[in-house]
Amino acid sequence: MNNEILNYESVALDDDDSALVILDQTELPGEIKILRLKNQKDIWQAIYKLQVRGAPAIGIAAGFGLYLAAKNIQADDYEEFFSQFHAAKEYLNSSRPTAVNLSWALNRLENVLINNRDKNISEIKKLLRDEAVKIKDEDILMCRKIGEYGLTLIKDGDGILTHCNAGQLATSKYGTALAPIHLGRERGMNFKVYCDETRPLLQGARLSTFELIADGVETTLICDNMASQVMKNGWINAVFVGCDRVAANGDACNKIGTSGLAVLAKYYGVPFYVLGPTSTIDMSIKNGREIIIEQRPAEEVTEMWYKKRMAPKDVKVYNPAFDVTDNELITGIVTEYGIARPPYSESLKKIFDEKK
Ligand code: MRU
Repeated sequence: MNNEILNYESVALDDDDSALVILDQTELPGEIKILRLKNQKDIWQAIYKLQVRGAPAIGIAAGFGLYLAAKNIQADDYEEFFSQFHAAKEYLNSSRPTAVNLSWALNRLENVLINNRDKNISEIKKLLRDEAVKIKDEDILMCRKIGEYGLTLIKDGDGILTHCNAGQLATSKYGTALAPIHLGRERGMNFKVYCDETRPLLQGARLSTFELIADGVETTLICDNMASQVMKNGWINAVFVGCDRVAANGDACNKIGTSGLAVLAKYYGVPFYVLGPTSTIDMSIKNGREIIIEQRPAEEVTEMWYKKRMAPKDVKVYNPAFDVTDNELITGIVTEYGIARPPYSESLKKIFDEKK
């Protein structure tokens, strides 16, 4: 078995070379291409173009990216340093609107600046580096814990349906929705995983299948419109999906197509779980209606992956990258602090109170 892909880091910092190092996810599974990004425009583009993608990986990349921006700032005093830093932060923050991990990571770095204004600039730069590295290190631990809690929800041999890629490639290790599967593999367990291809960018077909096969998991690829059929066949014991932003009431935003799966799961009586770190839960918004949904270019639907454009030239295209699953369709939200159950306005608040 070729498990080479699992040995690569999706996001890393090469501080000596002042580079953000990413595995270009747009080229997978065909080519394993490593990008070394040194300027802010390239980092912005890599996030926008999904060369680095998945909420936690975006957060980690943004943290390293902002540290690199800060490292290059030549400023004589704190005020000037802060103003240039803040502009770099706002620039990176504009790369994608939906995953809260982006602003969460950038804010963590900005707080380092705010809390250390008495230090000199070279000391502050070191602290920014430490914080960015910490975001990545913490992510590995969070994903493992999510995997532990997720594993309590399934048993050896179960069929799991997943959507998009919320696996190792979207994080630093293990993933979120796929963490229980990878952790289960470490313990000699076997699952039958069904991956939605996930139109239009095919994160399920290209990425989830790739990393699961590399881990020796029995993996079946289905088109998004086949989910109902596999549930009806009785092949699915649970649906595991990731998330990009969860509101305080448990409404969960994830890759477009997730909410449809939740509706199907309810109809067929299949438990539907959202797995994600607390860094993806945005307690500042009451419900999913407040989440900004990224709209992507029409060509992703009409041209990408096809030899020739497949739709009439003048057709209107609606291409939202995410949708929101209503909390009432969600059986549980699996975090690194445990599994939140309905009513989520209470259980998520309890998790955050305990976290404090
Ligand atoms: O547009 P993408 O590929 O960044 O969307 C990714 C997802 O929707 C994932 O499910 C989510 O970010 C969780 S990744 C652990």
